[in-house]
Amino acid sequence: MDLGPLRKSYRGDVEAFEEQHLASRDPIQQFGVWFQEAAGCPDIGEPNAMCLATCTRDGKPSARMVLLKGFGQDGFRFFTNHESRKGKELDSNPFASLVFYWEPLHRQVRIEGSVRRLPEEESERYFHSRPRSSQIGAVVSQQSTVIPDRQYLRQKNTELEERYRDTTVPKPPYWGGYIVQPEVMEFWQGQTNRLHDRIVFRRLRDGAAPPGDMTHQGEGEWVFERLAP
Ligand SMILES: Cc1cc2nc3c(=O)[nH]c(=O)nc-3n(C[C@H](O)[C@H](O)[C@H](O)COP(=O)(O)O)c2cc1C
Repeated sequence: MDLGPLRKSYRGDVEAFEEQHLASRDPIQQFGVWFQEAAGCPDIGEPNAMCLATCTRDGKPSARMVLLKGFGQDGFRFFTNHESRKGKELDSNPFASLVFYWEPLHRQVRIEGSVRRLPEEESERYFHSRPRSSQIGAVVSQQSTVIPDRQYLRQKNTELEERYRDTTVPKPPYWGGYIVQPEVMEFWQGQTNRLHDRIVFRRLRDGAAPPGDMTHQGEGEWVFERLAP
């Protein structure tokens, strides 16, 4: 698809944004640039903290923070308990939305896409790379279930530390990773005059909204558009 002629009338606008904020017409690479800047910002404690929203099969949403543990062209990785509320929601409705907010940089990134579990070997590798206390913690906590009190957790923790004192902590089958494969990625840059910049990338695939005369060609199957703030 040739978007050349369509791009022309908005060329100046997009180029101005690109010059200021966009390092790439590939949204994953662009995320990488912003992520590095967030990671290098002394006022951002956890640049990889992101809000993960999931939905029940009938579309009721829930959201919570998790940590991004890797990203690349294949997607965005995080780890959790498959039997948690989010795990169950992802089993029955394998789509998610992620939001990063890097306040000192006035930046937000939104990501939407389908989700799949990571292969067991990858979860296994990551599990054993974590501090021992976190490994035990993952075994102790049947995440999102009701428990009697804090003492219950303490006691379970002590028992497990004893049990695995001289051995490797086995990764529980109910713990592992997911990858969000992005279909939509939005980069929001706050501006002091409230005319904030929003550039949204989407994959132009079968069934996607066709490109309009304000659509710009990105890398590969990505196109991008500017949205009103
Ligand atoms: C900054 C931050 C990072 C977190 N990272 C994770 C994480 O990587 N994985 C995880 O399972 N829970 C993480 N949590 C806890 C979750 O927010 C949540 O309490 C837990 O996963 C249970 O969610 P659910 O009941 O909706 O499944 C984190 C919480 C905070 C505040």
